[in-house]
Amino acid sequence: MLSNNYTNRLFGRTRGRSKKKIDLKKYYQTVAKYKFQNCDEKINYILDIGTGYGETSIFLANQFLDKVVISCEKYIDGNIILLKNIEKNKIKNIRLHNGNVYDVLECIHRECLDLVWIFFPDPWPKNRHAKRRLITSDFLIKLHKILKESCDICIATDSTIYIRFILNSIYNCKGYFQWLNQSEMNLNIKDYFDIETKYYKKAINSKRNPSLFILRKL
Ligand SMILES: C[S@@+](CC[C@H](N)C(=O)[O-])C[C@H]1O[C@@H](n2cnc3c(N)ncnc32)[C@H](O)[C@@H]1O
Repeated sequence: MLSNNYTNRLFGRTRGRSKKKIDLKKYYQTVAKYKFQNCDEKINYILDIGTGYGETSIFLANQFLDKVVISCEKYIDGNIILLKNIEKNKIKNIRLHNGNVYDVLECIHRECLDLVWIFFPDPWPKNRHAKRRLITSDFLIKLHKILKESCDICIATDSTIYIRFILNSIYNCKGYFQWLNQSEMNLNIKDYFDIETKYYKKAINSKRNPSLFILRKL
């Protein structure tokens, strides 16, 4: 059962600002075709959290053809773009969860993830919104339980406030993860991954250098 814990609530928009009408019936029919249901023991999974317009899910699906990407996003306008790209490129290894990542976490009861990606999670920079931030030590420990041995979590952010918050979260669960790139945190994401998401481009255009955290399960 899903809990109503404050931190598990979803904040932010599910629809874009554009006045363009969306055929929601058709949307949910397409979502149903690609819907993530539950973990199959024979499949290796990647969890992609807060995918926005789905660039990361498409990237991961192409990079890891032998794995299935669970793409988690509640933003309908973004999911529509993702679904279009899945169909246009005939991508077979993406399952979509149109909603909160906590729903997915609650239905996984064993170590079945090979990788977790969290690209530019909402920073909620105001102090009074800090409780809305996704990445906390409790959240990382939840992921630890369902990650396979020696598998990684990749987190990108360009928010200095969130960087401090993430550092604190990593410190608070230091027995659980090894921070692989601790000595070179300010490197360019492109040194690792050839991908540009909407929020990556926003950061670069505003001359903010995104940081990448790579955490390996101990
Ligand atoms: C700042 S955007 C980043 C989008 C994309 N990853 C990128 O790099 O362009 C953060 C996204 O995370 C989604 N999000 C926030 N909390 C979430 C949650 N608990 N479960 C699923 N998605 C979530 C939001 O809807 C939003 O689209």
